[in-house]
This record gives sequence, C-alpha cells and structure tokens, in this order.
Amino acid sequence: MKDQIEATQTEALARIEAVADIRSLEDARVGILGKQGSLTKLSAGMRDVPKEEKAEVGQLLNAARQAITGALEGKKEALQSEADAKALAGIDLTLPARSLHTGSLHPLTLIRDEAVGILRRMGFALADGPEIEDEFHCFDALNTPADHPARNEKDTFYFDSGKLLRTHTSSVQVRTMEAEAPPIRIIAPGSAYRRDEIDATHLSVFNQLEGLYVDTDVSLGDLKGTLEYFFHELFGSATEVRFRPHFFPFTEPSFEIDVKLHAKGQAPKWIEVAGCGMVDPAVFDAIGASRNDDAYSPEKVTGFAFGMGLDRLAMIRWGIKDIRLLIENDTRFLKQFA
Ligand code: DAH
Repeated sequence: MKDQIEATQTEALARIEAVADIRSLEDARVGILGKQGSLTKLSAGMRDVPKEEKAEVGQLLNAARQAITGALEGKKEALQSEADAKALAGIDLTLPARSLHTGSLHPLTLIRDEAVGILRRMGFALADGPEIEDEFHCFDALNTPADHPARNEKDTFYFDSGKLLRTHTSSVQVRTMEAEAPPIRIIAPGSAYRRDEIDATHLSVFNQLEGLYVDTDVSLGDLKGTLEYFFHELFGSATEVRFRPHFFPFTEPSFEIDVKLHAKGQAPKWIEVAGCGMVDPAVFDAIGASRNDDAYSPEKVTGFAFGMGLDRLAMIRWGIKDIRLLIENDTRFLKQFA
C-alpha cells in the first residue's frame, strides 16, 4: 500500500507537471482527486490496512493529497499568468489612452438657467411665444408707432406675408396678457432677430430674457428692488447697479440698467445690461382692446417690465471679448465651461 501511494503520487505529480492548458489541468484534477480518481480509489483501500499500520498509511495518504493539491494550484497560477502575458504581448502599454470627451453645457445655457433660477425664486413663472411674430404683438401693442426705426426693413427680417422674426422677446408680454388676467409675473427667455452686421458685439440672432409683473399697486420701488437683487445674485452682492433714465415706447418712465464692471487690469467701468420701466398705460389700453375687457385697465393695474441680453450677461460673467465665440462651437472655447 505504501509503495502504491508513492507510485500514485509520483505519477499524479508528473501528469500535472506535463499539463499545458487549463482544461487539461481540470481533467487531471478529476482523474486524480475526483470520485473515480487514482488517489480517491487508493484511499478506499484504507479499510483493508491492518490496524497497527492505519495511522502511518493515513498520514502518507494525506501527505500525498496535500502535495497533489499544491501542485494543482501552482500549475493553475502558472498557466493563468502565461495566458495573461500572451494576451498582453503586442500591446504597447505606454501608449497614451484615447481621451473621453464629455460634453458640457454651453455658457449661454448656463447663464440662462442661472438667471431663470434667480427669478423663479422670486415668483416669476416661465412664459413663451412664437419667434415668427406679427407686427401687432411685436410693435403695435407695445406702443411702437409705424414710423419707429426698429420697424424699418433695414433692421427687421420681414416675410412676404407681413410676418417677421421677433426683434425682441417683449412680444411675449403681449401674448401673456392677452391670454391671462392679472396678477401675472412672468419671464420669457428666447431668441430675438435683427438685421445687424455681425461683429464682435453683434449677432443677427441673439438671446434675450424678458420679464413682466402686473398687479394692483406695482411700484417703481418694486422694479428697482427686484432688478437690483437679481444683478446682485448674478454678479455678486458687492456689484454696483445703477438705473439711468432712458426711453422705450412700451414703458414710462424707462431706464437702462448698468452694472459696474471691475475687469482685471482695467479701470472699472459702467456697462449696460438691461432695459426696464413701468408698463406704459398705452400698452394696457392695447391689451384691453385686444381682450375686449378691462382686466388690464390702467385705472386698476400697474406693472413693470424688463428685458436683457443673455449673450451680454455671459460675456460679462466670463470676460468673453467676442460674441461670435458663443455661436462658433469651437471646442477649445467651450471646454472651458466643462
Ligand atoms: N425690448 C427691449 C430691447 O430689445 C428691451 C426692454 C426694454 C424690454 C425695456 C422691456 C423693457 O420689457 O421694459 O432692447
């Protein structure tokens, strides 16, 4: 029996040693340690071993099993690393990896979302209207007379039908008041179109954000407080904001809003960021005529409105010197906002 154990062990170890792949190794394991395996069969002979030899033979069997198990494991590891090395051969691990390009939000989207977020926290709801407008919603209802320069064919894209590409988002004011009774507090971000020569500060398609608040007793103080708060939130609470008297046909009084810009290495300067004012009673009258009711009678309601260029806000926020960067989709520019 002892000789048999020794012979089985020697044979098993030789078989394991000779194996060349993982599958044959598994066959060898079954052939030695499996139910019908050589060592398993040998172990069954224990019952015929005389009592006084049982301990010694048992030890031998255990030692053989351990040696074989160890050899199986060792061989498995060796085969595995051989396979790994083969898989890696020919791959140059020092080559730079292909970089993954993750997209990011466009600066205009970032500034729009931020502006909308601030105003929504103050209770403004989103509204919108068509970009292809008619003269009534873009001009007439906004107290802009037929001979106003903004209506000139040189400044506005007209269709043969008489419709036009809206020159400002203020048309959404009219559409909202026609559709809903006061009180209303809306903002409308969106595109506007003008026949401007494209240069570092002008595009023929640009982005605005319009606001309108109408209720009983809306005051100029409300207008100032709201917009001052807005620009402090957007550009920092230390930012100086000033309201400079101006003229718009649809508001009276009207103002332009400037913020003081402290660009690095430059003297601080005031820069215009928005137009605003108290809704002109003539606008309410036009809405009354269109709605055919007196919900917006200037005797009953007052309101303020404002409009700002989102492109301009993005340029100020990030010190962008040329507005064309916002439409060129140059990833060297855009990836700075990732
Ligand atoms: N619509 C004006 C523009 O495009 C901006 C504006 C000024 C909007 C004053 C307003 C406002 O609502 O009250 O230049």
